[in-house]
Amino acid sequence: GKGDHRHYMLKEIYEQPQVIGDTLSTFFNPTAQTISMPNFPFDLKNIPRITIVACGTSFYAGLVAKYWIEQYARIGVDIDVASEFRYREAPMQDGGLALFISQSGETADTLAALRYAKSQGQSILSIVNVPESSMERESDAVLLTHAGPEIGVASTKAFTTQLTVLACFAISLAKAKGAIDTACEARLCRAMAEVPSRTAEVLNHDEALRKIAQNVAEARDVLYLGRGSSFPIAMEGALKLKEISYIHAEGYAAGEMKHGPIALIDENVPIIVIAPMDSNFEKTASNTQESVARGGKVIFMASKEGVEKMADHCIATVTMPNVDPFVAPILYSIPVQLLAYYVAIHKGTDVDQPRNLAKSVTVE
Ligand code: F6R
Repeated sequence: GKGDHRHYMLKEIYEQPQVIGDTLSTFFNPTAQTISMPNFPFDLKNIPRITIVACGTSFYAGLVAKYWIEQYARIGVDIDVASEFRYREAPMQDGGLALFISQSGETADTLAALRYAKSQGQSILSIVNVPESSMERESDAVLLTHAGPEIGVASTKAFTTQLTVLACFAISLAKAKGAIDTACEARLCRAMAEVPSRTAEVLNHDEALRKIAQNVAEARDVLYLGRGSSFPIAMEGALKLKEISYIHAEGYAAGEMKHGPIALIDENVPIIVIAPMDSNFEKTASNTQESVARGGKVIFMASKEGVEKMADHCIATVTMPNVDPFVAPILYSIPVQLLAYYVAIHKGTDVDQPRNLAKSVTVE
């Protein structure tokens, strides 16, 4: 049941500290404070290239993983949505790993893409939330998210547990490749260990988002901006808002604004900026100022330090804990989920059963 919560979606948002912790504990050795993977039927250190395929929210989890794997493991990652990948007859490198991400393990396009990759001689790894699903059965190896059943049609806890698995996988890959030293590995593992409690901390401060949601609920269009691994979180935020509040939203790479979308900006288009304190912060902040100079109303999500730098330019700010940039995409998922939820509440839409959407898309 929903317990004390008004909707499954809110219950599932609040379950995240627990299910992220459950998922992390399947890889985390608390004594050694290290992360390790089960034995795979392929050798991590010999993987020349990775292809990631998924749909919707699971695709955005894969996009975050591309940033993590390329930066830390130094392995090239190709990524595509399944409905495109399966028909474009992509050549695939010998010995490559194909990685499929799916909450249900049954999404028709993702499953078809998996079969194609198999026909191309790839090793198949799936990340699924439903054990004994089709994708689980047809893969060479499986990593489970321990999100528990997700009832709300809009994916929340499945996404952050996918990110948790993908972060652990990226660390293990980086280590197997010899691409990070022990100090870096220790830093990343420490950052991961903090995620469940940091997630709880973010959830305890959701009052600000409820107020901000009132403004956003009036809008016809909303822009979400981020750079680096915050770019997929911007797109995920936009998808959450579209699907449950029916407000048109777009997630953009902050640096792409000046190549077109900045023309959209006026006082009626709220701009949500995802700006953790990382090596991209100053660039994202200056893109934000460019939008403000054109009348944009910015809602800025950043650490205390980032918020202090930008508060004077923004109509609202969301102060996030100051975390290692590696885990920022997991933490910044929470405020974008809550914002979409509270906007939908203001609009009175059916949060758990949005119109036209099905939980599992088993048609092509
Ligand atoms: C969005 C959402 C969908 C799913 C997509 C893939 O909130 O839930 O975009 O992420 O349909 O589903 P799975 O992960 O089951 O393959």
